[in-house]
Amino acid sequence: MLRCASLTKTYLSGGRRLTVLKDITFTVEPGAFVAIVGPSGSGKTTLLGLLAGLDRPTAGTVHLDGEELGALDEDRRARLRAEKIGFVFQSFQLIPTLTARENVQVPLELRGEPSAERAAELLGRVGLADRGHHYPAQLSGGEQQRVALARAFSSRPRVLLADEPTGNLDARTGAGIIELMTGLNRDLGTTLVLVTHDLELAARARRTIRLSDGEIVGDTAA
Ligand SMILES: Nc1ncnc2c1ncn2[C@@H]1O[C@H](COP(=O)(O)OP(=O)(O)O)[C@@H](O)[C@H]1O
Ligand SMILES: [Mg+2]
Repeated sequence: MLRCASLTKTYLSGGRRLTVLKDITFTVEPGAFVAIVGPSGSGKTTLLGLLAGLDRPTAGTVHLDGEELGALDEDRRARLRAEKIGFVFQSFQLIPTLTARENVQVPLELRGEPSAERAAELLGRVGLADRGHHYPAQLSGGEQQRVALARAFSSRPRVLLADEPTGNLDARTGAGIIELMTGLNRDLGTTLVLVTHDLELAARARRTIRLSDGEIVGDTAA
């Protein structure tokens, strides 16, 4: 499903080279539920960005369903993402000129399957049934995050990549999101790769990859 080999990422900052991922290799099988954990600054967000094809590695490869992301041009990579990947990144903003429901519909439209009903249903499942007509600026940070989650789920992606999807949420909303993601994995076979500090969420994963200082220091099955 998703395979990365010898992934390395080096940033240049202030004339210094900073290698934040070193020789990362692992394979994620279809239907897997993987938690990526590790201290702040260990490279988790960088790794997720490379897996999503949002960022390019300095060295190494990422394959999604047998296609090497780095070998595709930006158009084909964007299309592959729209077809197969849902992602929730903390920095990935909602479109400010669209309502919550319209934002959730965007991936459905990209796939040529617009459905206002499905968008409304998903907003209900993240506890925002009555916020569909609100614009992002009219929603709290946690509400915007839930809209972003509903958007990531809306096209029933084969792979869901999420960076701390329950961070910044109250316990009850977080529990609802955990149920939603666990259900996607169990009922639809959605492959989940989640960066999380949430012990309850990490406990649901069937595999935990531990990063430290840009290297894999643990890879264990639950
Ligand atoms: N665009 C960037 N330019 C330079 N350094 C960066 C950039 N993005 C991240 N880093 C550095 O890479 C390291 C890993 O960051 P990150 O992947 O965000 O870690 P984590 O998500 O585990 O907290 C950090 O030291 C961070 O400062
Ligand atoms: Mg991070």
